[in-house]
Amino acid sequence: MSRKTILIALTTGILGLLCGWGLGFNMAPTNGLPIRVVADYLHAVLQADRTFYTQHVVERMEAMLIVNATEKWREDRTLPLPAQFFKESSRGLQVRGKPFRYRLISIWPINQENEPESEKDRHALEQVVNFGEVAEREIELEGRKYHQTIFPDRAVSRACVNCHNAHEGSPKRDFKLNDIMGGLEILIPLE
Ligand code: HEC
Repeated sequence: MSRKTILIALTTGILGLLCGWGLGFNMAPTNGLPIRVVADYLHAVLQADRTFYTQHVVERMEAMLIVNATEKWREDRTLPLPAQFFKESSRGLQVRGKPFRYRLISIWPINQENEPESEKDRHALEQVVNFGEVAEREIELEGRKYHQTIFPDRAVSRACVNCHNAHEGSPKRDFKLNDIMGGLEILIPLE
């Protein structure tokens, strides 16, 4: 092998190494997990807990004729409805320094507290309800920046539809099975 060939091989090798190092450096994660992945993980955990509570606590207790879930659960000394269980646990989290927030929202809420916060939020929620897609954007709330993700919340059982359609506070009475009834909003602080 001539000295020229060795030189070319060496230069190519070193250039290749440098390129690889540069690429690796650029591609290395700098900020941990992408924020959408975090939102997806939170969504999965929240939904799993809500489903478990509904199926293995509420439905089981009712079937065994032990106790029902009712809206005025504190006064009635019954179980909270799944939507209330969800809200109460979210309140518990707020107390611990507001790491992130989540809530159920709807264009047709039984409880006015669950309306979208702004016109823009309402618009985002309408997209979610009409197209069944997840909506994502940056928002500002009480002077803080958040990444907002709204996941579709579907009527997965007859119970969802029956209760909402019959509820005196519900502005919509023609929900059908599998309809998107609202959204699960997750806010992750950006600072
Ligand atoms: C037994 C009655 C009942 C059942 C069953 C029920 N809900 Fe609700 N839901 C309520 C009540 C009452 C509220 C309002 C809770 C509050 O005070 O924030 C609510 C709140 C909600 C909200 C927030 C907007 C609003 O209407 O205030 C969504 C979204 C929602 N429910 C979806 C569902 C879905 C999806 C299911 C089935 C998986 C379901 N609900 C099952 C009674 C029910």
